[in-house]
Amino acid sequence: MNLRIEDLSHTYPGAEARQVLCIDAWALKDGDQILLRGVSGSGKTTLFNIVSGLLHPTTGAVYYDDRPLYGLAEAARDRYRAQHIGYIFQNHNLIGALTALENVMMPLAFARTLTPAAQRKRAIELLEALELSDYIHTLPKRMSAGQRLRVAVARALANNPRVLLADEPTAALDEHSGEVVIDLLQSTCADSRAILIVASHDPALISRFHQRVDLHAGQLHEAQWA
Ligand SMILES: Nc1ncnc2c1ncn2[C@@H]1O[C@H](COP(=O)(O)OP(=O)(O)OP(=O)(O)O)[C@@H](O)[C@H]1O
Ligand SMILES: [Mg+2]
Repeated sequence: MNLRIEDLSHTYPGAEARQVLCIDAWALKDGDQILLRGVSGSGKTTLFNIVSGLLHPTTGAVYYDDRPLYGLAEAARDRYRAQHIGYIFQNHNLIGALTALENVMMPLAFARTLTPAAQRKRAIELLEALELSDYIHTLPKRMSAGQRLRVAVARALANNPRVLLADEPTAALDEHSGEVVIDLLQSTCADSRAILIVASHDPALISRFHQRVDLHAGQLHEAQWA
C-alpha cells in the first residue's frame, strides 16, 4: 500500500474561511511510521479526516495505491475505509449503546472476513492485549477516558488495516497505558507493514519515531532528528 497526497488544500466553509491545509505533496509507503506534530489548531485532525475519506478536501487528491480515494462514491469510500484504514479518533467515537466487545466486533462484522465466533475471539484478544479483560462487557459510559480510548484502539486494529491513523492516542493515558498503546500500534503495524501515522504532542513519543513531520501554517515539514 502506498499513500500519496497531491496539491491538497482545505478551507472550511463559513464566514472566516481560513485555509487550514496547503500540502503540495506527501508520499508514504508500506511500513512507514510517522509522528505528526503541530500545535493545537494546526490541522492534524483535519488532515486525518481527509486521509481517511471522511472529509472531501477543497482541492487536491489522496491516492491509495495510485487510485484516488475521492474518485469513489461515498458508500464505496466508507467500505474502503472499513476494510483498509484504521482510525483512532481524537474523541474516540465509540457507540454508546454497545459494550466494549460489541464496539470492537462492529468493523469485524461489517467486513465479514471471519466467522462470528472468530470475530468474537479476535475482539477479545485485542481487548486483553489492551488490558481491558475486566471491561469486555462494559458500556463506554461506565469506563474512564483512557479505557474508552483503548477500546477505540482495539476497534481500529480489528481488521488489520493497511493504514492506521491515531489522533492523540496517548492524551488521556498515564505513562504505562500510553506505552501499552504505542507498543501495540507500532508492533502491529511493523508486523503487517502497515502505514502508521500518530498525531501527538506527547514528548515521550519523540524518541520512538524516526520519521517525524511537523504541520505548521498548513504545510508539512520534515522534522530534524534530535
Ligand atoms: N468543522 C469545522 N468547521 C470549521 N472550522 C473547523 C472545523 N474543524 C476544525 N476547524 C478549524 O480548522 C483548524 C484546524 O483544526 P484541527 O481540528 O484540524 O486542528 P488540530 O491540529 O487537530 O488541533 P488539536 O491539536 O487541538 O486537536 C482550526 O483552526 C479549527 O478552528
Ligand atoms: Mg485534533
